[in-house]
Amino acid sequence: MENFSYHNPVKIIFGKQTIARLSDEIPAGAKVLTLYGRGSIKENGVYDQVKAALAGFEWLPFGGVDPNPRYEFCMKAVEYIRKEKVTFLLAVGGGSVIDGAKFIAAAVNFKGNPWRIVAKHAPITSALPIGVVLTLPATGSEMNGNAVISRIETNEKLAFSSPLVYPKFSILDPETTYSLPPNQVANGVVDAFVHVTEQYINPPVNAPLQDYFAESILKVLVEEGPKALSDPTNYEVRANIMWAATMALNGLIGCGVPQDWTTHTIGHELTAMCALDHGRTLAILLPGVWRTMREQTFEKLAQMGRRVFGVADGSVAEQAEAAIDATENFFRSMGMKTRLSEYGFLGTFLQPILHHITIHRHHVIDPDMAQEVLHQRL
Ligand code: NZQ
Ligand code: ZN
Repeated sequence: MENFSYHNPVKIIFGKQTIARLSDEIPAGAKVLTLYGRGSIKENGVYDQVKAALAGFEWLPFGGVDPNPRYEFCMKAVEYIRKEKVTFLLAVGGGSVIDGAKFIAAAVNFKGNPWRIVAKHAPITSALPIGVVLTLPATGSEMNGNAVISRIETNEKLAFSSPLVYPKFSILDPETTYSLPPNQVANGVVDAFVHVTEQYINPPVNAPLQDYFAESILKVLVEEGPKALSDPTNYEVRANIMWAATMALNGLIGCGVPQDWTTHTIGHELTAMCALDHGRTLAILLPGVWRTMREQTFEKLAQMGRRVFGVADGSVAEQAEAAIDATENFFRSMGMKTRLSEYGFLGTFLQPILHHITIHRHHVIDPDMAQEVLHQRL
């Protein structure tokens, strides 16, 4: 096992009717900005629950965060927060709202051009405190210090991390997820699955605890994911998926093991260039990344085949192939397309994506390798 340090300060409040607990968690006297997306929380009752819980606070609503939160929009919130002297940021929504809140929290007191926080990983020295009410299990953003922000004018989608933007608390009420449309359920399950595999399908370092943690999360997602589609108001299913998705990217399973975020890195370029949802890009790319990085991935893939998908026969190479096929079948069982051509994208479309990968990522992703992956997944 490799050396590591691990500190996750996020307080999780999990279960039915827990949004009411907001008032215990936000500091007394805080002036709160409640950030949310394009309106789902007004349709499913979450907004009303938040409003009731905030009754004793001075607070301002700020809606309109788009999926793949935009720098331009976030900067409007930054201006508003400065003007209104807001002291606490409450994010109510999925990964996009939470990530937007993290960037806004970091940008409010940043000296200089805030895009540098994302584009240059310019260090931040302070951030507004953030609280979260999660409505979409997927990204793990509710329990990590990462955010991904998009800039429309340049077709960029870039990530930053800071210990200063971990939420102070996150409220996870699985009942808030009953209203998710099937495509967002699938996006979330696939995203969480790939978060696990980016930290698990790597050269083995004799870390059996991390392996078993990772495999148990994968098994829960494989078993419960399809049930969330067929039985959307099953509380147990929603609860299991919600906790699995949080555990998939809160840092725990990545302790002391190698990580490789190639699928995510190429996926962010695909979203930036062609507006495919994050989860959809991953379902397309993952089998191609595994087949392209054959030598590094085969041993753990075979292990995943045996322990997660019940593959019993064949050589290590055959078990690894069976695991890739089983993963793709699982994604398809969640209603996911797994080929670029299924979305109408042809070979000619790949050139601008590869150009962006060369510009943005060329220190982490070999453009030739990215080309091979993308061609495989046409
Ligand atoms: O706009 P609203 O009204 O909020 O509607 C959203 C949005 O249309 C809707 N939704 C959310 N909860 C709902 C609901 N609809 C009905 N009922 C509910 N309970 O779902 C749509 C998608 O929401 P979004 O927040 O964009 O989805 P997700 O949670 O998948 O977040 C995706 C973003 O997170 C980034 C992605 O790149 C993408 O920008 N990621 C963040 C990570 C992190 N911070 O650690 C890691 C991930 O790998 C990922 O990159
Ligand atoms: Zn992801």
